[in-house]
Amino acid sequence: MSADSMRIGIVGCGGFARFAVGHFLKLPGVSVTAMCEPEPNAAKLGAEAFGIPNVADVETLVRRDDVDLVYIATPPALHHPQGLAALKAGKHVICEKPLAVSNEQADELITTAHERDRLLVANLMQRYNPIYDAVKSVLDSGLLGDVLHGFLENYACDEQLSPQHWFWDPKLSGRIFIEHGVHFFDMFEGWLGPGKVVAAQTSRRAGGQEDQVQCTIEYPGGVYVNHYHGFTQPGPFDRQMFRLLCERGDITLHEWVPTKMVIHALVDDAALRQLTELLPGVKVDTLATYTGEARKFAGRHKTFAADRLVDLTLGEDADKMVRYGEILQGMFTDLRAWILDHSHQRKITEDNGRNSVRMAVAATRLTDEM
Ligand SMILES: NC(=O)c1ccc[n+]([C@@H]2O[C@H](COP(=O)([O-])OP(=O)(O)OC[C@H]3O[C@@H](n4cnc5c(N)ncnc54)[C@H](O)[C@@H]3O)[C@@H](O)[C@H]2O)c1
Repeated sequence: MSADSMRIGIVGCGGFARFAVGHFLKLPGVSVTAMCEPEPNAAKLGAEAFGIPNVADVETLVRRDDVDLVYIATPPALHHPQGLAALKAGKHVICEKPLAVSNEQADELITTAHERDRLLVANLMQRYNPIYDAVKSVLDSGLLGDVLHGFLENYACDEQLSPQHWFWDPKLSGRIFIEHGVHFFDMFEGWLGPGKVVAAQTSRRAGGQEDQVQCTIEYPGGVYVNHYHGFTQPGPFDRQMFRLLCERGDITLHEWVPTKMVIHALVDDAALRQLTELLPGVKVDTLATYTGEARKFAGRHKTFAADRLVDLTLGEDADKMVRYGEILQGMFTDLRAWILDHSHQRKITEDNGRNSVRMAVAATRLTDEM
């Protein structure tokens, strides 16, 4: 592997792999050399997209000299055995989320990656969204006061998930918190610190498939966040909303790959100036102004002064698939920089993969106890 080349071998060339690898290939020096895909139609689409051979099995793929990095995009339960095979063959691994479907599997993968000094990450790509950083900088600034509460509502479309899809098979998917919730456990941990699952529920269809889950997580400072995921909706009703409620305002994001953030807040002139400095390009809409005695506000028996009620909007309702592509390229670029130079500080490590699996496993277990 030379400094400007990175040759990818794909394990599982289904829908997401073709989308993600298509974006990785836009980066200089990145190529794809082989795939391992047992399903004939997916293999045909992979060959059409990338013009690469389809090898017989994962062992064959990971032994190839022309593969530097194995990208695994198979159903979740396969991530552990396939990741282990790739690491033991000395390859770097980017694995689709989740890293694994149990804590023990995640730990074994990480130990093996450390022993071999290889990259091992789950593609928790949300951390590469500039909106993630914008939320983090506002929360860390304290300009909205303490965080009090949050929610994530994921009303997801299930039109692409036929009754035979692996998503509904708990042995392959690990169930919804593990297959899907990990993205959001990781994001909220990044914003609020390590959390603890304190309640969790599941709801099933007549056929027994789990299609809705929710849990409450306690974050440092007694901040409770409700995470809901339901795979029940027709296409046009697929929608997501995040909210972080603070003492002097709230932050709202729409779509699960958010492209826009709106802060609704009471601010004095100094706080407004600091927020606009923190968020270059932010649009300020003043909804009300206050003078004299009207500047005094209180909440939680704390008083503060504000000059305005504002909506601060950062970003546009841009095409989320365009943003998704940019995020995938940002992720790959960051991780390749670490492979080439371990002193590079990357945004995600194996810890993100392990911690998000831990939360998801805890939430899943609690649904069974309640
Ligand atoms: N990071 C993200 O935003 C994101 C988005 C979508 C999906 N995903 C993840 O990507 C993974 C794949 O999801 P998908 O939607 O592409 O599913 P998919 O069913 O379209 O693709 C999975 C592919 O794996 C193949 N496969 C099955 N067994 C295999 C084996 N033993 N060896 C090699 N290939 C095998 C299947 O034939 C299929 O083509 C999942 O882990 C999912 O959670 C991540």
